[in-house]
Amino acid sequence: MAFSAISPTTPDSYSWFAEALLAWYPRHRRDLPWRHTRDPYFIWLSEVILQQTRVKQGLPYYLTFSSNYPTVQALAAALPDEVLRHWQGLGYYSRARNMHHTAQQVVSEFGGQFPDSYAGLLQLKGVGQYTAAAVASFAYDEQVAVLDGNVFRVLARVFGLHHDIAAPASRKQFQQVADQLIPADHPAEFNQAIMEFGALQCTPAKPDCMFCPLQSRCFAFQHGLVAELPVKSKAKVARTRYFHYLVLRHADTVYLRKRGPKDIWEGLYDFALHETDSAELPGAQLLAEVERLGGRVATDRAEEPTVAARHILSHQKVEARFHEVWLAGPLPAAATSAGLAAYRSAEVEQLPKSILITNYISNKQI
Ligand code: ADE
Ligand code: SF4
Repeated sequence: MAFSAISPTTPDSYSWFAEALLAWYPRHRRDLPWRHTRDPYFIWLSEVILQQTRVKQGLPYYLTFSSNYPTVQALAAALPDEVLRHWQGLGYYSRARNMHHTAQQVVSEFGGQFPDSYAGLLQLKGVGQYTAAAVASFAYDEQVAVLDGNVFRVLARVFGLHHDIAAPASRKQFQQVADQLIPADHPAEFNQAIMEFGALQCTPAKPDCMFCPLQSRCFAFQHGLVAELPVKSKAKVARTRYFHYLVLRHADTVYLRKRGPKDIWEGLYDFALHETDSAELPGAQLLAEVERLGGRVATDRAEEPTVAARHILSHQKVEARFHEVWLAGPLPAAATSAGLAAYRSAEVEQLPKSILITNYISNKQI
């Protein structure tokens, strides 16, 4: 494959790129709430939510967070479970916790004011290069280029950059190019424009090359390499885990526990979990698990059918089986050492939960 390389020594000769994008942007931009503010708090909030999330999916979450927590002080003071509950369904729950911590850091160490530069924003734990660049440019008009998936794709195609965008080392090459392209007089518009161009025009699967203002100068288009760029090595195959959930029920309650650290879904609630290396759980093992928790199975209830569900995460696949078990009485206090506690259905509704658990509960009408 032949590739061009942008020369690091001739920035001015690439001004056509910014000019074309800045002409394209006002005619195509979507009207989004975070584009009407220069308040670093709201900009930061939107960028945290929009990382690895499409605008359509992220917008309702932005509206929820910005109205429930209209200031960084309000977010900092919120209860962790409440923040997780509002985040529910977005995935990547550690981001919700990081977001909460960052808000607390802004309040406790910066007097409630976001630092007003790229370098200052990077001092915040949980704020990486992308978010710092976005906030610094959108809120303070600092000339620092954002790099996200959209930007990688646009630059790789237009300038024929062949570096593997999945490799962390490639970031430097792309940042160098982007920093040359971003104009001093419109850094905020340029950053919005290049992301919007990647989201709407130069899309991953079917970019609209036919009606693209960059067509005549686009390396990928001119060389028939649009489908080949960007180069992205495949992620490792996700490992499969088998979760056997014991949905222990008694009277009008069901037992849940809060998930601990160092695994997926930290801080979210689920049922008693028995993880094995098989999708099947023999009846005897199920009974042994219930007994281990001190539970006595009710004999006057028919056995409930097992419910199967699958949940795909970025690095693992969870094959879940829900085994509903009615108990003859409440679990003994010892079960609380496994973190289990009895909840009524209205309380279950309020707990932060993964989508896997939420779907099961709403189908079963627990
Ligand atoms: N994705 C990430 N940041 C964005 C923004 N500011 N506008 C639209 N989409 C985005
Ligand atoms: Fe993207 Fe196609 Fe335009 Fe090139 S011509 S920038 S590949 S949409």
